[in-house]
Formats: sequence, structure tokens, C-alpha cells
Amino acid sequence: MMDGLDAQGLDAVRARYVAQIAGAADEAALEAVRLAALGKKGEVSLMMRGLGQMTPEQRQSAGPALNALKDELLAALAARKAALGDAALAERLAAEWLDVTLPARPRAQGSVHPVSQVTDEVIAIFAAMGFGVKEGPQIEDDWHNFDALNIPPEHPARTEMDTFYMGRAPGDDRRPNVLRTHTSPVQIRGMLAEGAPCRFICPGRVYRCDYDQTHTPMFHQVEGLAIDRDISMANLKWVLEEFCRRFFEVEGVELRFRASHFPFTEPSAEVDIRCSWAGGQLKLGEGDSWLEILGSGMVHPHVLRSGGIDPEQWQGFAFGMGIDRIAMLKYGIPDLRAFFDSDLRWLRHYGFGALDMPGA
Ligand code: PHE
Repeated sequence: MMDGLDAQGLDAVRARYVAQIAGAADEAALEAVRLAALGKKGEVSLMMRGLGQMTPEQRQSAGPALNALKDELLAALAARKAALGDAALAERLAAEWLDVTLPARPRAQGSVHPVSQVTDEVIAIFAAMGFGVKEGPQIEDDWHNFDALNIPPEHPARTEMDTFYMGRAPGDDRRPNVLRTHTSPVQIRGMLAEGAPCRFICPGRVYRCDYDQTHTPMFHQVEGLAIDRDISMANLKWVLEEFCRRFFEVEGVELRFRASHFPFTEPSAEVDIRCSWAGGQLKLGEGDSWLEILGSGMVHPHVLRSGGIDPEQWQGFAFGMGIDRIAMLKYGIPDLRAFFDSDLRWLRHYGFGALDMPGA
């Protein structure tokens, strides 16, 4: 009879494996114990294979004893496996705990100001029509803000624009700088930088000494300029109509070009948009009222020359409109002054989410 098969030997084998099973820290360790005892070449398996060489009497006592050992070890393995599984689950449950009764995350604080939103919308629409974007200084010299735009010193437009003049140091008798009264000086800077042909818009802050429901001392304009060999009023009309259709999202938008006068364009036109005020509600593209939205015209030859462009070779159109004004029209905001009050309730109501798409 094989040595290990007396009752004492089996007890020792049982005790060793039961201890190893109990001590297995994870499923991999447990599997190693199982293979060592009950795998193809495991210790207990080899003992069972030894049964074949025994006498029938030996087999009669050793067989049931080995089977009992095997069953006992299998049961211990199963019990330990279940315990390890429970522990792993308990650990996951503890780690992935989530209190579903917690309040939802707070809404992101802050919002995009309507002026920023509308500026982005305007840039996106003109960019799709091939216009670049230029910026210029808000403190502008007299020449860029006036002279270069065909507004000589004695011109009445200077006083009409309610200009803010900057101070000069005592003894400095150069003409004072101004807070730019419109974005038109950026036309000049753009032409000087780029030459002809060129096509760009210039959004930005402008300043005039004025304050009521539709005027604030600082407001926003966007200027547009397109110079090429044969640009005409027809191009201007199409570009502005296309812009209004896309910006106001009204297919049947209708514009009226009304003869006007600006020193820097000839001919000049103010542009009105058809609207209705029925029921106190502004609707664009229908009704019998007209709302002025911008100034425009063909760039005056003097202005082209100031921009270093030969008016015999080139011509173009320009326009300027109030960003705040078109924001009020599109989003139904009644009072311009509130734009700059920094009232959080107003900003939350009229502001846009950081991920809002232009035009959405
Ligand atoms: N600069 C003009 C204004 O501020 C607007 C304008 C720009 C008009 C370009 C014609 C051409 O009122």
C-alpha cells in the first residue's frame, strides 16, 4: 500500500490543502491550490490513480477515503471561491457607491453676453461670404477717425458725432486723440495694411456722448468693406440681404435702400428692414413699418486714396451697423442701457450658454 494512503497521511494532506484554500488571497491563488491538489497531476489525483495498483481489499478502504477527501476539498474550494467573490463585490459596492438622493449638479455659472453672441454670429455669417475680421484701436487719432474718412476739421459731422476727446499733456499742441466714434477708421487701417482687392469686417466698441433708451456712451458697431475692380451697389445689396436673411433667420426679409449722406461714401444709403409691430410684437419680414438698421454706400474716392488705393483702378462698398441694435431686434431686448448694467438677473435671462452655436 502507498505510504500516503493510511488514515494519518490523508489527514495531513487534507489539513495542508484546507489551510492553503483558506489562505488563498484571490481567485488566482485559489486556482493554484486546486491544480496542486486536484489538477491532472495534482497530489490527490495521483493518489487516486494509484488505486489501480492496489489489492481489492486495500482499494475498498482507500477508495472511499480518497473520494471523501476529494469531495471535501472541492467543497472547500467552492466555499472559498464564493467568499472571495462576495468580498470583491462588497469592495466594488463600497467603491462605486452613489447617493442618488444628492441634488443635481448646479447649472454652470455665467453666460455669454448678447453682444458677444451676436458678434460671433455676425462674424460667422460674413466669414461664410469670404470676409476676414480686422480690429483697430479704440483710442484713435483724429486723422484715422475723421480726416481720412473725408471729414475735414470744419465738417459738421464732427460735432454731430458727440465725440469724446482725450486730453493732451500741457504744452503738447497736437490735435487731441478721440475715443473712436465709429468703426470706420478700421477701414482705413485695413486698406493701408492690405491694399486692393480686400474684403473684411471690423467689429468693435465705439463711443459717443449720448444716453437714452437706445443710446449709450459706449456701444458696438460692425463695419464692412469690400474693394475690387468692379464692385457695385448691386453687390452691396445682395450681401446685406443675404446677411439679414441669415442673421434674423427670416426667409422673406425685405430691405429698403434710402438715399442718404455720409462723408465717406458716395452714393450713400441708409437701409431699413420691413417689420410689423402688430400686437406690440416686432416681426421682421412682414407688416408696413420700416426700421433703420444700417448705413452704407460706395466708398468715396478720397477715402480710397487715404487707404493708399487708386480710385481709378478700384472701387468698393462699405457699411456700418450697430451690433447692440441688431441684438435688441433679434432677441427682443427692449432697453439698450441694460446691456451695460451688469445686472445678474438680466444677464441670466438674456445671456447665452457657452456652447450655444451662432444662430441657434
Ligand atoms: N460710420 C457710419 C456711422 O457710424 C456708418 C457707415 C459705415 C456708413 C460705412 C456708411 C459706410 O454712422
